[in-house]
Amino acid sequence: MPSFENSKILVAILAAGATIMLTGFVADKIYPTDELKKDAVPIEEASNNSSIKMVSDTNKPQMPESIIPYLAQADISKGAKLSKSCAACHSFDKDGPTKMGPNLWNIVNREKGSVAGFSYSNGLKEKGGVWDYESLDQFLTKPKKYISDTKMSFAGIKKIQDRAALIAWLREQSDNPAPLNNE
Ligand code: HEC
Repeated sequence: MPSFENSKILVAILAAGATIMLTGFVADKIYPTDELKKDAVPIEEASNNSSIKMVSDTNKPQMPESIIPYLAQADISKGAKLSKSCAACHSFDKDGPTKMGPNLWNIVNREKGSVAGFSYSNGLKEKGGVWDYESLDQFLTKPKKYISDTKMSFAGIKKIQDRAALIAWLREQSDNPAPLNNE
């Protein structure tokens, strides 16, 4: 039956064609050709460099995650609760007294180490600049890491959400709270 044989051949050809098309499609998904349009190592850089190094992101120093995006969503009432762990050493009200630590009224964007008469560590005195959100965040993560000889005996606050809550609460202890994006 030649017509039956013919249609078998036709089916086989169609099936082979479909397979080839499908393979091409799948290969395209797995190895997108676009990616090869850019050199893995820029040619110029590579030729200036006698030993071509692997391009790797893992060797880059890890930047700490920014606190700014967390501030807008921070739970301020939680921050108020967390501030109780500071209150043994710090007052937060305007013209509040110096305790073990300096008063923290208006601390956001306040000059570091600037409470008159308080005997700061050398590290804090020399740090310079103001307590912006990022430096407060780093200090409160691990005070000793930020200022190795700090006089503040406090282990630090691990969770970024907790630090954001506390810093957002600290921000409000001011006549004129700093903008949330620190600009
Ligand atoms: C055991 C006491 C103690 C505790 C608890 C403590 N601090 Fe301190 N804090 C200090 C001392 C002492 C200093 C001065 C540090 C120095 O001179 O290095 C200080 C300094 C600071 C400064 C820098 C102030 C400035 O004028 O430059 C900030 C900000 C601060 N503390 C925030 C906090 C917050 C927020 C908490 C609670 C999470 C806290 N501290 C908990 C004792 C404490």
